[in-house]
Amino acid sequence: MKVLVVGGAGYIGSHTCVDLVENGYDIVVVDNFSNSKPEAIDHIKEIIGKDFPFYEVDACDTEALEEVFKKEKIDAVIHFAGYKAVGESVQKPLMYYHNNLLSTIVLCELMDKYDCKKIVFSSSATVYGKPDHLPITEDFPLSTTNPYGTTKLMIEQILKDLYTSDPTWSICVLRYFNPIGAHESGLIGEDPNGIPNNLMPYIVKVANKELKELGVFGDDYDTPDGTGVRDYIHVCDLAHGHSLALNKLEKEEGIYYYNLGTGNGYSVLDIVNAFQTVNGVDVPYVIKDRRPGDIAACYADPTKAYEELGFKAQYTLDDMCKSAWNYVTKNK
Ligand code: UD1
Repeated sequence: MKVLVVGGAGYIGSHTCVDLVENGYDIVVVDNFSNSKPEAIDHIKEIIGKDFPFYEVDACDTEALEEVFKKEKIDAVIHFAGYKAVGESVQKPLMYYHNNLLSTIVLCELMDKYDCKKIVFSSSATVYGKPDHLPITEDFPLSTTNPYGTTKLMIEQILKDLYTSDPTWSICVLRYFNPIGAHESGLIGEDPNGIPNNLMPYIVKVANKELKELGVFGDDYDTPDGTGVRDYIHVCDLAHGHSLALNKLEKEEGIYYYNLGTGNGYSVLDIVNAFQTVNGVDVPYVIKDRRPGDIAACYADPTKAYEELGFKAQYTLDDMCKSAWNYVTKNK
């Protein structure tokens, strides 16, 4: 089965490329490097030990993307391409709606034209808004608090309408919790431009002395230590969820929604402490005000993905912290 990975040079996309090949899928990769680097493609090839077709194409560019569909006989698509910074989406909503929605529409139109009707879409736990209890199951009410989150929810709606109009589509919407960590080779990992917004990339830069200290956003939440609790999942576990999702779409038509998380909640200080202990490095921090829009706690009920996909996270928090640091030390 030949899988088109759109946004395959990015953080989750690159790890998924590796997992797909290890699970017997052939890949064709497209990326415009808007938030990734060409080296990621070489590094994926180095890890898997073989070549694959790569096209530097913007998924909003119908003509360029159509060339890929003409050249390659694509059986299924995984759509990772999209802007993902919450704060930036509040500043530049049109840029987010334009890019995230248009790329999806262009991609689905071409898939329809070339009779390729299997798609796995990268959604996010952000579509659950502020859940009123935990853990989160897939049938929770959906809402969003920022334009980035709204693009994810709108795309979910587009895919649902598409399926209603033509039930020969097979669609899998994966709602990611908080991916961290890196491939054990240290060749691919998370490498955001500028000052990171997310916790783990920030911790890594503090440990590496590129930033002075971590600001912990609030210690007065209703959580065991007062800091925010999230469901951190190793990016390699998350990547494997995509191979399992394709496996399902190969067998069944339909539209499916799955949480990809571990079901465990860890606080900001749990992450800082684990990172310091397993890596033997210091991560100085100060307590700051709460970050607007943050919720106290968020973690998945991963039962549905386990029962229907056979998905179960294998890596521990220590593995996540170790591999995140290994990626940085290997690339210093
Ligand atoms: C964020 C986004 C979410 C997006 C996800 C993946 C927000 C409100 N949510 O999730 O929509 O899908 O990233 O990109 O931005 N923290 C600190 N100090 C820091 C950074 C984070 O204390 O410098 C804390 C946060 O308050 C939170 C936890 O660490 O409790 C995790 O934060 P982060 O990594 O940004 O992820 P989310 O906020 O869960």
